[in-house]
Amino acid sequence: MSGTDAPLTGPVVRPRRLRTTPAMRRMVAETRLDPAELILPAFVREGLDEPAPIASMPGVVQHTRDTLKKAAAEAVDAGVGGIMLFGVPEEHKKDAVGSAGTDPDGILQVALRDVRAEVGDDLVVMSDVCLDETTDHGHCGVLDAAGRVDNDATLARYAGMAVVQADAGAHVLGPSGMMDGQIAVIREALDRAGHQDTAVLAYTVKYASAFFGPFREAINSSLQGDRKTYQQDAPNAREALRELSLDLAEGADMVMVKPALPYLDVVRRVADEADVPVAAYQISGEFAMVEAAAERGWVDRDAAMMETLTGIRRAGARLILTYWAIEAARKLRG
Ligand code: PBG
Repeated sequence: MSGTDAPLTGPVVRPRRLRTTPAMRRMVAETRLDPAELILPAFVREGLDEPAPIASMPGVVQHTRDTLKKAAAEAVDAGVGGIMLFGVPEEHKKDAVGSAGTDPDGILQVALRDVRAEVGDDLVVMSDVCLDETTDHGHCGVLDAAGRVDNDATLARYAGMAVVQADAGAHVLGPSGMMDGQIAVIREALDRAGHQDTAVLAYTVKYASAFFGPFREAINSSLQGDRKTYQQDAPNAREALRELSLDLAEGADMVMVKPALPYLDVVRRVADEADVPVAAYQISGEFAMVEAAAERGWVDRDAAMMETLTGIRRAGARLILTYWAIEAARKLRG
């Protein structure tokens, strides 16, 4: 008698067969990351001679004009898809209305021209349309007499910022202030100024999050208090779909969910509904959390980095803004 007559024990169906070797796991992977879908957020600060480290974001710096150009060139080399620029003006240039944001010689506009001169069209060059970097009170909009963020007065400021940023060469604008109607106003301002080809990546879904903490250091923010009257409240997911339909109706070319990790359910819902590319922003605090735990030897840094990015991708985001963009891109290319 052959051994085949022996009674079978154990399961017939064994999912573990597809996990046996790295090659097998690679072959059956349902989710892949592509460097072209990664976007590097980068900070440039006016008046610096040397890049300034950001203590709460190990490895991330406030760039000088010069080192920003180098970072952009490195991003191109690594195959990264885009760069998102944030400008930090000299402290004395901050004022109540964020004048540096509409100054053609403001640091963000200068940096956009620098980066475009460096990379041309080889990298998608994006910039933040928001007032928190340039206001002395640190809010994303201008304030009314009672100290509240004035939605409609802020829209006029965003329109002006959009035009100077597009003039300076931004391919894509990223309005991040969560003002109602911001996409429509920016689209109209761009079109009137002849910038029909400048695209808008809307920060469609942005939650008032504790995880923005390190970013405040990155932009030398003056903010006291919080952004809860304009950014979304953590318990709400259906509201994200309302923001999505508004932004699409107003002409957004791409939409973003932010932060990423605490809101992956929202990323999934938005990805299921949207007929435009969906991005997620792995924000400063998400980055810092992994770096800090890794520094203590509590998690394997590189594995955690790739796992978080894969999770965001699996939740449905095609584009991912991440401070690890260059490093992750290099890893993906092997
Ligand atoms: C607003 C803006 C913020 C971030 C990107 N754009 C800060 C905020 O809304 O408080 C956060 C990015 C990060 O934390 O990495 N200009």
